[in-house]
Formats: sequence, C-alpha cells, structure tokens
Amino acid sequence: MLKKLYLIGIGPGDPKYLTLEAKSLIEKLNLFLIPEKKGKKEELTKKRIEILEVVKGGKTYQCIYLPFPERKRGINYREKVKEWRKEKAEILREALLHIQEEEVGFLIWGDPTLYDGHLDILHEIAEEMKLSFEVIPGLSSFQVLGAKMKVSLTDLATPLTLHTPRSLRNAKEIKHPVVVFLDNYETFSLFKDQPLKIYWGAYVGGKEEIFKSGTLKDISEEIKNLRKELKKNKGYLMEIYLLKPER
Ligand SMILES: C[S@@+](CC[C@H](N)C(=O)[O-])C[C@H]1O[C@@H](n2cnc3c(N)ncnc32)[C@H](O)[C@@H]1O
Repeated sequence: MLKKLYLIGIGPGDPKYLTLEAKSLIEKLNLFLIPEKKGKKEELTKKRIEILEVVKGGKTYQCIYLPFPERKRGINYREKVKEWRKEKAEILREALLHIQEEEVGFLIWGDPTLYDGHLDILHEIAEEMKLSFEVIPGLSSFQVLGAKMKVSLTDLATPLTLHTPRSLRNAKEIKHPVVVFLDNYETFSLFKDQPLKIYWGAYVGGKEEIFKSGTLKDISEEIKNLRKELKKNKGYLMEIYLLKPER
C-alpha cells in the first residue's frame, strides 16, 4: 500500500541539472508518476523519461502516465484553473488508489513550488488519503537563465518580482527586475518604450536552448519574430525572461 509520495523537482529538462538529492531518490524509487503530454508537447514527457533512463542506467522501473487534460481557455481564468485542478486531482487520486508500492516519485518540471499547481492538489489529496509527502526542490528555469546569460537577477536593494503575463500587464512602469513565466502574449512589448534590458531564453538548459539579450526597444521585434519561428518549427515554446531597468 502506498505510504509516501515524493514531489521531485527535476530542473529545466536536462539530467545535468538534477540535484544530488533528486538523483539519489530517483535511484532508490521503483515507481514514478509522469504527466502525459500529447501532441506538440509530447517531448516534455519524453524528457522526463530521458532523465529516468540516465539516472536508472539500465535498472528497471515503472511509470504511471497521468492523462491530465489541457486547461480549457475561457473568460474567467481563475475559475477555469480551479476546474482544471479539480480534474487533475481526480486523475491523480485514482492513480494513487491503485498503487501497490510503498513509495512513488512524481517528477515535476523545474521547482515544484513555482507556478505549478501539483503541490496544492497534493495537499488536498494527501489529507484525504492519509498519505505523507515530501517536496524535493529543483533548479528553476529562471535561475539557469541568469547563470547562462551571466546576469544578476537582482539589483542592489531592490526586490525581484516573479510575474506571469496577467500580473505584469497591470504594471505601468517597471522599476526593478522582473522575471516572467508562462508568457504566450509577448507582454514584454507593452514596455518597449521604457529604459529596460531584456534577457530572454527559450528551452533553457536543453540542447535547443537559445538566448537573446539587449535593450528591450532594440530587440523586441527580433524576439517576436524568433518566437514565431520557434513555435512553427518545434510546435511549442518554453520561454522565460528577465526585464531589468537600464542603469
Ligand atoms: C508551469 S510553469 C512551471 C515552472 C517550473 N516549476 C519552474 O520552476 O521552472 C512553466 C513555465 O516555466 C518556464 N520554463 C520552465 N522550464 C523552462 C525552460 N527549460 N526554458 C524556458 N522556460 C521554462 C516557462 O515560462 C514555462 O511557460
């Protein structure tokens, strides 16, 4: 009977970014939960399996693929996310009920505490199922972005804010560094007349990673064109960026 679940942060997609803690846990466990991405994003499922293959090095293990639906678009964003999480919770609950192993690992992209709903879902389910769980931190894409671009994410004595497009859109002026996740809307272009630098990366940490940096006004169009090209070629885009006031 299942006793413990580990929510394992796997970093931005390449095995080299696994922490030692995540690696030794993956070595020890025999069973893993993996969100099953279909279509264009199937590669994200494959990358998780690649990580398992590298760490397991030929040892056998089992995976349960979770057929999570894509979030439905709609006017009431918060409501839609709530419905989506409910559907995912049902699928996860059902999968956990049938597990015979005592422990299972759930591979989570990046860090499980950042823009990822599984931790909240798990709090709900674990209480109902009297299941204990642990969260293993992972390296997040924005940390790798900063390192690869050799840029400090923070400025002296100012905050660093993590945004999604919905929150960034409401900002009138950017006066301190901001990191933007999950932006499908080129929200950076709303700020192109402000004295900002952009550090932009796609598929960060992977073989296809690509970076652009410069004054936002100068390279905003170039990034927009590149986004279109990457989306067309690869079918999906994983991008993260930092906006920093020019000094
Ligand atoms: C659902 S959030 C999950 C974030 C994740 N928990 C983390 O710590 O990176 C997905 C968003 O994270 C960012 N992201 C995650 N991995 C990335 C990567 N390898 N390259 C670029 N952006 C990435 C993108 O903004 C993407 O839309």
